[in-house]
Amino acid sequence: MKLKLAIALALAAMSAQAAEPWMDKSLSADKRAELALQAMTQQEKLRWVLGHFGSDFANKTKKHPAALPFSAGYIEGVPRLGLPALFETDAGLGVATQATKTPRERTSLPSGLATTATWNRELAYQGGAMIGAEARASGFNVMLAGGVNLLREPRNGRNFEYAGEDPLLAGTMVAQQVKGIQSNNIIATMKHYAVNDQETGRFVVDARLDDASNRMSDLLAFQFLMEQADPGSVMCSYNRLNGVYACENDYLLNQVLKKDWGYKGYVMTDWGATHSTVESANAGLDQQSGWEFDKSQYFGGALEEAVTNGHVSQARFDNMVFRVLRAMFDKGVVDNPVAEGGAIDYTAHNLVSRADAEEGMVLLKNAGNVLPLKAGAKKIVIIGAHADVGVLAGGGSSLVYPIGGNAVPGIAPTSWPGPVVYHPSSPMKAIQARAPGAQVVFNDGSDPGAAAQAAAGADVVLVFAQQWVGEALDAVSLALPDNQDALIGAVAKANPKTVVVLETSGPVLMPWVDQAAGILQAWYPGTSGGEAIARVLFGEVNPSGHLPATFPASESQLPRPKLDGDPKNEAVRFTVNYHEGAAVGYKWFDLKGLKPLFPFGHGLSYTQFAYSGLTANQKDGKLSVSFKITNTGAVKGKDVPQLYVSPLNAKWEAPKRLAGWDKVELAPGESKQVSVTVDPRLLGMFDSRSKTWRIAKGGYKVLLAHDAADAKAASITVQLPQRTLNVAGK
Ligand code: BGC
Repeated sequence: MKLKLAIALALAAMSAQAAEPWMDKSLSADKRAELALQAMTQQEKLRWVLGHFGSDFANKTKKHPAALPFSAGYIEGVPRLGLPALFETDAGLGVATQATKTPRERTSLPSGLATTATWNRELAYQGGAMIGAEARASGFNVMLAGGVNLLREPRNGRNFEYAGEDPLLAGTMVAQQVKGIQSNNIIATMKHYAVNDQETGRFVVDARLDDASNRMSDLLAFQFLMEQADPGSVMCSYNRLNGVYACENDYLLNQVLKKDWGYKGYVMTDWGATHSTVESANAGLDQQSGWEFDKSQYFGGALEEAVTNGHVSQARFDNMVFRVLRAMFDKGVVDNPVAEGGAIDYTAHNLVSRADAEEGMVLLKNAGNVLPLKAGAKKIVIIGAHADVGVLAGGGSSLVYPIGGNAVPGIAPTSWPGPVVYHPSSPMKAIQARAPGAQVVFNDGSDPGAAAQAAAGADVVLVFAQQWVGEALDAVSLALPDNQDALIGAVAKANPKTVVVLETSGPVLMPWVDQAAGILQAWYPGTSGGEAIARVLFGEVNPSGHLPATFPASESQLPRPKLDGDPKNEAVRFTVNYHEGAAVGYKWFDLKGLKPLFPFGHGLSYTQFAYSGLTANQKDGKLSVSFKITNTGAVKGKDVPQLYVSPLNAKWEAPKRLAGWDKVELAPGESKQVSVTVDPRLLGMFDSRSKTWRIAKGGYKVLLAHDAADAKAASITVQLPQRTLNVAGK
């Protein structure tokens, strides 16, 4: 009987497979996509290239009935062929919800910059795996996460979604996150491609950057990400690049992404970034997203007509569909259908988020070892930033609504790109729990005089300072808003044992830097942020975050002291000239001999680390470096030894580049040997004409440093032969 049943099942499976050969898992994703494509009518093919918004649009259009409520998007499937619909959700910090009063409440990672500040590949992967699991359990099979725009503009309102100023660091860390997400058999999205480096005027801005500079900076971050993680999709951005919209930019889509880099996934637009049918399709765009944001269903009937009339070839149209299907087979979307209502282990996920947050915190200053906080303090005063109840989150489509609701509702803006949200993880409660005998007092910080009075005489004062920004909204300046500089100055004057905890999107100015004894950069620390902050302050966790971006001493040091564009007039086209080229962040500061407030790579610990035995070898031009690292302090800790390379004769965009790093945990007195191999593209210059990377023959200094401005960095010189590498660095 059992045997009969087994045979019947096997026969049924075989006949289903014969009828639907693309369901045969033993075939390659390419073959399966090809077979599925062949079985489709023209109308069915059209479904894959047109995305619908997952929410009502401006009270004009209702959401697609099958889309998940208040989600980012939906693409109809072809159930006749067993091909599921695509359910899209934002984004990089967790499962977001489009603005509503009844959001899905999920776990939020700390900001992207915080994750990058860990310099810990494994943590970035785990964070990705965690949010990807929540996306799957929430019924989503496309997660629009994978933001890797370079931090050229420290005022950019979306810096908290991205991964800082260095292409190697950013590309590597986001690649790990994308791999983690896709380990759940869902598709991730590398975005916003490309040079979408400020929010002011994002729909109209024309970013100007030459090819070679771009390939060695913004595009290089995307290239590293793509190579290391193979994201199923890429989102083209709102802006123009050198005069042409990114989503109809043949150079970006056809030439660089698909031809030069051999990208096999599909390109979707950002929501409202499609401007044409024929130009876009022929430039390499594969899918229009959330069409309701655009002037027209460019990839609906208009595309069908364009194919019928031959303005877009049938072959090109088929390739658009093929790319979407291929990604679905390749990432496991077809074989592992998603369903809403899956179980989520929030306790475990809180711990993933907390581990990320605490390792991403950067101890910027620690005069007189004011930190870690000592047991036995009698009075601790906590000031500002609603630290009694929660921690700040950034605004816009990436917002993950907290479990348990917003700790501080009602702060403006309450609508897009708000609401301003605080995760209900109270730093004060977590501090109180660790100082049982102490009197812990909270002052809201609105009155600097009153706050200073409260601070006087306390054993330690913790001032929480904040900067809220979001999508579509750059910071107007790098100064802390709302008179917080005056607040910190007054408090630090009243009590020298003042520690400032910063909850900011990115770099801010600190006119009070000399007065504060301690400064801890906590970024937007996510779901378990309050707990994570307390654990670092009390030394339960030894801080090991390092800055993924330069903190300038003033805005006059920036390539653009004033932000281009007019936030009050978003309709008029303007140009941002990225004249610094590939000299982004610390490279610009090196080039111009500027002294930042805190350099890229900076981060203190409660212990110390020493480096020795630096050696560098090249074999056939391939550079590898090794050295020893020792914990010379009294407590366990993690360090980020950084390797920079600087040419003696060759001319680069800037004096040096980050070439590698490691994150190493050591017990007191322990040593470890570390080896790093250097990607050869970081040793050469890109030549646009030949599309090759060229490494000049000569001497190169290899620096082993604690940060990008480390005056005591050990160094060694290697001689490299002349080499020419293809566009992929091979
Ligand atoms: C953002 C994207 C996001 C999309 C869908 C756009 O406004 O720029 O990052 O994925 O909306 O919500």
